[in-house]
Amino acid sequence: MNEGTVTTHPLPLQLRSDGTLRHLLTLEGLNRRQIEQLLQRAQAFVRPLGATPPATRDLEGVTVANLFTEPSTRTRVSFELAAKRLGASVVNLEVQLSSRVKGESMLNTIYTLESLHVDVMVIRDAEAGIPGLVADHVKPHVSVLSAGEAHVSHPTQGLLDALTILQRKPDLSKLAVAIVGDVRHSRVARSAYDALTRLGIGELRIVAPPVFMPEAGEMPGCARHTTLAKGLKDVDVIMMLRIQKERMSQASLPDADRYFAKYGLTPDRLQLARPDAIVMHPQPMNRGIEIASDVADGPQSVIRDQVRNGVAVRMAVLAEVIANRGSLPPA
Ligand code: NCD
Repeated sequence: MNEGTVTTHPLPLQLRSDGTLRHLLTLEGLNRRQIEQLLQRAQAFVRPLGATPPATRDLEGVTVANLFTEPSTRTRVSFELAAKRLGASVVNLEVQLSSRVKGESMLNTIYTLESLHVDVMVIRDAEAGIPGLVADHVKPHVSVLSAGEAHVSHPTQGLLDALTILQRKPDLSKLAVAIVGDVRHSRVARSAYDALTRLGIGELRIVAPPVFMPEAGEMPGCARHTTLAKGLKDVDVIMMLRIQKERMSQASLPDADRYFAKYGLTPDRLQLARPDAIVMHPQPMNRGIEIASDVADGPQSVIRDQVRNGVAVRMAVLAEVIANRGSLPPA
């Protein structure tokens, strides 16, 4: 288990020599302008529910492989829909690999996919470093997109969370955002931190029991609170997180009822925030553990917008890396 240790990628690996995006492994290496451009591109793909989704030919002739070794519903389906709405062919691989053979098997799999003319590999893995390892070994015309790497990063989630906030509250410099729950084991929290700090967020708070606080020194600039009473006071945005059971030992799991009693977001506690505060959750949600159903389905929830925005963000990232490939000849 990689508890607490964050593997950093050699950041230039994500960018082509002309500075454009080739892989998306983390938001850490991107600057404000690059993130804003991706979000603008994503916003152009957003449609109201009930409207026909956008369809373009940006990825005509391109093949995208979804390579997921950890469970996923929304992220995998939204990457698949995003690729198809841009005109790509898509293959989905769900592989179970033991850690011992992971690196080698992963590389065998990607060499096979390259021979099958796969141009974009979308990778989700429980082990830190796997998307970077693959990115390091693919041919120059291939792009690697992380769909969630251990506890380290989940860049498209960070982008869709930023987009969801911007749609409701465009001036980020005036906002206070609370990230609540199991921040320590959360790739969602780390990527939200990367996106929001680069976009100039006014105030970012971490609200968690001591066992779920990130290591000292991680996420610099965030105020840390151990109670909702203080942490939620007058915030504009509340981002709730699921307890990452799969990233900790059974012994360190808190009791669900006690956790809800202290850290669950209930209608009463929501009143601590500003009256127009929005509530977010990356899902899957554990109703009655980190969030009450009345809040998850209530008028301040933007959780379903997050899902819708996920497709738009993934379309933007796919379109961007393929456009940047330019006229590179396949090797
Ligand atoms: C998250 C993930 O997998 O990191 N889900 C998602 O991608 N929407 C959050 C979680 O699993 O708790």
